[in-house]
Amino acid sequence: MIFTVAIDGPAAAGKGTISRAVAEAFGFAHLDTGALYRAVGAKGGDPVQAAQTLSPEDLARDDLRTLEAGQAASRVAALPDVRAALVDFQRRFARREGGAVLDGRDIGTVICPDAEVKLFVTASAEVRAKRRWAELGGDYDQVLREVIERDMRDAGRASAPMRAADEAVVIDTSDLSIAEAIAAACAEVRRALPQG
Ligand code: CDP
Ligand code: CDP
Repeated sequence: MIFTVAIDGPAAAGKGTISRAVAEAFGFAHLDTGALYRAVGAKGGDPVQAAQTLSPEDLARDDLRTLEAGQAASRVAALPDVRAALVDFQRRFARREGGAVLDGRDIGTVICPDAEVKLFVTASAEVRAKRRWAELGGDYDQVLREVIERDMRDAGRASAPMRAADEAVVIDTSDLSIAEAIAAACAEVRRALPQG
């Protein structure tokens, strides 16, 4: 079965948590596409060349989840040639046999406009900053500023800006527990799965 679940949304909205749970519940493969951009940003040098030569080792770096890596990712992600270098890999992953969940910013709009399920997972900036701060520590006000700055850059860029696809189901997780958010996403997937 070819079946793609596209999950987009801003930083720390819960995309990764929900994607991993959906993949596990339905036996689908999961690709965190943000990790591709984080790895390109962390690699340094010419970002286009970095994107064209991305390796499993680049994706296994242990410094990809920092605030700095998020900012670097968002800067290289605005470059059309960087995005172009990563399209084929993501599309092939999305249409692999057995089902796939991809989370990012442009999955439902650009990478997989034909995805069977499109979710846009969001939450207030304050809630998202609190979650990221709980993970990373540091100064809460700085985390909040960086989350807002990154969202503005991602939504404002010309190339594949972050936005909900017209037909995406919006899940606002501001007041949802993790279990409730996962249940809402799984319900959408179940509704779209072929009968039987
Ligand atoms: O992938 P994304 O950056 O959108 O978010 P995430 O890494 O899945 O979630 C960010 C943090 O928020 C994690 O520590 C989650 O456990 C937490 N979270 C939460 O508290 N409530 C939710 N409904 C979803 C996620
Ligand atoms: O986990 P979090 O939501 O904080 O970020 P991420 O999903 O790891 O993405 C890091 C950055 O990569 C984003 O701020 C975007 O600039 C970029 N990105 C993108 O442009 N397109 C995607 N499909 C995924 C990530």
